[in-house]
Amino acid sequence: MIFSLFSNMAARHECLSVGLLLIFSGVLSFPVGQDTKQSATCGYESCHATKPNMLNVHLVPHTHDDVGWLKTVDQYYYGDRNDIQHAGVQYILDSVVDQLLKNPDRRFIYVETAFFYRWWKQQSSGMQQTVKQLVNEGRLEFVNGGWCMSDEATTHYSAVIDQMTMGLRFLNETFGPCGRPRVAWHIDPFGHAREHASMFAQMGYDGLFFGRLDYQDRDRRMKDKEQELLWRASDTLTPPMADLFTGILPNGYNPPEGFCWDQSCSDPPIRDDPDLEDYNVDDVVKRFLAIASSQAKVYKTNHIIMTMGSDFQYENANLWYKNLDKLIHYVNAQQTNGSRVNVLYSTPSCYLQELHRANLSWALKTDDFFPYADNAHHFWTGYFTSRPALKRYERISNSNLQACNQLEVLGGPGSRRGLFGEGDSQTMKKAMAVAQHHDAVSGTEKQHVANDYARKLANGWQRCQVLVSNSLAALTGVSAERIYCDNLNISVCPLTESSKKFSVNVYNPLARPVTWPVSLPVNGSAYTVSDAQGKSVDCQVVPVSQATQNVRRSQGFAINELVFQVQAPPLGYTTYSVSLRQDGPPPAATHHRTPTVIQNKFLKVTFDPDTNLLSSLSNLETKQTIKLAQNFYWYNASDGNNVDSKQPSGAYIFRPNSSTPFIISRTAKTETVQTSVMQEVRQWFAPWVSQVVRLYTDSRDLELEWTVGPLPIDDNLGKEVITRLDTSIKTSEMFYTDSNGREVLQRKKDFRPTWHLKQSEPIAGNYYPINSRAFIKDDEDQLTVVTDRSQGGGSIQNGSLEIMLHRRLLYDDVRGVAEPLNETSSIFPDGLVVRGRLLLSLDRPSTAADTHRPLAEQVVLQPLLTFTDGGLNPNTQLEFSGLQAALPPAVHLLTLTQWDKDSVLLRLEHQFQSWESKLNSQPVTINLQKLFSTLDVLGVSELNLSANQWKDEMTRFDWTPQTDQKPLLKMVREPSVWEVTLRPMEIRTFLLRVSLK
Ligand SMILES: *[C@@H]1O[C@H](CO)[C@@H](O)[C@H](O)[C@H]1NC(C)=O
Ligand SMILES: [Zn+2]
Repeated sequence: MIFSLFSNMAARHECLSVGLLLIFSGVLSFPVGQDTKQSATCGYESCHATKPNMLNVHLVPHTHDDVGWLKTVDQYYYGDRNDIQHAGVQYILDSVVDQLLKNPDRRFIYVETAFFYRWWKQQSSGMQQTVKQLVNEGRLEFVNGGWCMSDEATTHYSAVIDQMTMGLRFLNETFGPCGRPRVAWHIDPFGHAREHASMFAQMGYDGLFFGRLDYQDRDRRMKDKEQELLWRASDTLTPPMADLFTGILPNGYNPPEGFCWDQSCSDPPIRDDPDLEDYNVDDVVKRFLAIASSQAKVYKTNHIIMTMGSDFQYENANLWYKNLDKLIHYVNAQQTNGSRVNVLYSTPSCYLQELHRANLSWALKTDDFFPYADNAHHFWTGYFTSRPALKRYERISNSNLQACNQLEVLGGPGSRRGLFGEGDSQTMKKAMAVAQHHDAVSGTEKQHVANDYARKLANGWQRCQVLVSNSLAALTGVSAERIYCDNLNISVCPLTESSKKFSVNVYNPLARPVTWPVSLPVNGSAYTVSDAQGKSVDCQVVPVSQATQNVRRSQGFAINELVFQVQAPPLGYTTYSVSLRQDGPPPAATHHRTPTVIQNKFLKVTFDPDTNLLSSLSNLETKQTIKLAQNFYWYNASDGNNVDSKQPSGAYIFRPNSSTPFIISRTAKTETVQTSVMQEVRQWFAPWVSQVVRLYTDSRDLELEWTVGPLPIDDNLGKEVITRLDTSIKTSEMFYTDSNGREVLQRKKDFRPTWHLKQSEPIAGNYYPINSRAFIKDDEDQLTVVTDRSQGGGSIQNGSLEIMLHRRLLYDDVRGVAEPLNETSSIFPDGLVVRGRLLLSLDRPSTAADTHRPLAEQVVLQPLLTFTDGGLNPNTQLEFSGLQAALPPAVHLLTLTQWDKDSVLLRLEHQFQSWESKLNSQPVTINLQKLFSTLDVLGVSELNLSANQWKDEMTRFDWTPQTDQKPLLKMVREPSVWEVTLRPMEIRTFLLRVSLK
């Protein structure tokens, strides 16, 4: 009764103002009843009964529908281009629904919401009702349920959380609680990241199933019956917050051999008319029982699972179901003859429930499942780097999307519909969600599909640009046309190249102030730059390098770059005005002699006078110096013509022909630019490799801006280009990489924490995904490299760290793509040129995270620059911050996005691991009502990580690890509902009811 009283006053779960809260706090300890609209028996309640004294075989009918791979996502949906691959998702869903209705025992799971959503939109309301009924009865069950099944090596956690949120939100809004998946289903990704498991746990999943792991790891696990385990996916979050039960499927995600009844298969159907000559029921039953019993030997319980389906199967679901009905019937009929095998239609969650009921303890795993090898010479470590331009485009798109989301909130409703037309963030959200698929950002799709992902991102960004322009018009108070320059990295921006007077709006999506270097293509030789206070800013004009002119080709004509540092307020913008003082070429600022030293007040960098290569790096504050040699090399990609194995290097697989890479040049030609803003040494190694070593005056990190391509292939050799840093750090064969941009894992050469590795590929078998940073260290020194996209890398020699930058290959690696990874485009018919940055910092190990966490954060979410031509309107609001104050350095504002008309979704994240920093690995408390400067927060409710469940309703299965006692999760009482405490590595998700002040 009490609840209905209050529920009229505000949305449930929401913490009201303090007065009301006092009343609530006395009552809230009662379980809060769900407003039970339906007496549905979905989920665990809808599982078929099993037989306790038998071996229960759970048949899971499923289809694996890639959100783009050999065909684009749209082609897959409609079944277009069946000449490339026969696959049409719309027909699969049509056919499955039809077949489910024919027999209530049948089950089906569906995974990829990107497809389901399209199909749903096209159904009649009658059909929608029918499907709802199937879902409510647990006959059609969603598993995973994100927009796609994300790649695990090359995705950043921020984009993964967003794509999961989008898919799960659709399922909740369409189907309510019965649409909420209980199981994460990552059957195809090529190796598994610990951070993914941690996220799935925090999204409320009860378990995870996958299909691919290293073949040696699988052998060992089969022997020890450890194919089902408990993954403790964080070294910082208090268990069981990041504990996830994990099951490895018996046969990838395919049916057992001989039992594929899809139209795409050719296994014999069940022929059960005894009057006919080809009656085969006895044979089928016998083969099935044999497979079941051998499978049962490598799993722990009297339940086993079989995945009855595969890529794009069930287009004619009748074939599958007709035979499965018979299989179940005939196998179970043997029970009267004493058979102890019971077969049933099932789902991953029904199978998981039985494992949970078994009440066993499970092996505990704390590392991850990288790298993945399916054979001694087949290491899937090439895709960590494949399509480096797409990987960067995806990463910068995430940054732009987050800025777009934030500005949609901060600019109010006029952002979506305003002076510059109608804009939206939704188009880009979908494009980003699709790009997380395990054949998208991973680089393992066909070229035309990669182009489609990029086109979708570009299209999304255009819609966002309208929104951003509207929002900035609202916030600045003036409506000047805003110009976007997306090619500043190659010194192209038509406005700045020709304008005599323009202004730059710098929007900072981080919740702390940021200092950021800006370099604008110009044709004048002297400029005045002033900040929002009218103060003039130190700026310099330097000539555009030859390397940059080579990359931009005919796209721009600036002869100079105007460089200066900007400082932008938290979650807000500032404005810089630029005016031309003098035309013509600049004073010749370049020198052809390499200085032996460049330095600022924090760092000193020396070069070898003979080779012009880097030779040492010092941190002047901590008085540390390391030897640091850096150069570029290439591995000769195997062409498959090899005694050990015919495996070539390709989009997925990295297989160098030799463990010794070729050096591109022992020496560099150089040119030096030294100004008061920055000093840079431009190194030229070959027509296809150059680099700028750049040190900004106020910077604690050293920038290495590399430019690689077009990789020459006229020698008929595929090339995999790396840069290698060789240092005096005593690494004892260890190095460290981040998992999806979050927690850091230790890696050791030729070693895996959970099995005895027989190393068969000394380079490829030591490569790991580097998502946003990697480091090497000893007791004294830590060298951290922050990357601007996902890349692969390893530490092959002591003291050394190598990162793969670009690949151009001449052979397909026989994993389905059927194309060599040989990227060209209209501007680069001779092969793609790729440019990127590595940021190096040298610190004491005990404080290194204080530097590289914020550094990585500002590379992931970088300032968004927009330009207006001409002088500034005097009424312009030149500066704005959406926050009342900057957040402490430990806290990252991960998400701020409009949720519905009156509410926004907010995620706050503690970005330090517990052991990383004396200073920052401490709990931090944030007051939500004192967060925003222009929003009143009227109500707050907390959600799970994927925002599809209220935090207070989140219950998960409990699992017992074999090796330790389960620590109790300590409940922290927070001082008030508005004050939330973040402990190391916690992400907390809130729905805020807000109004603009
Ligand atoms: C789930 O969707 C329903 C509407 O179907 C909505 O009322 C509810 O708030 C949603 N739950 C969450 C956690 O967003
Ligand atoms: Zn797949």
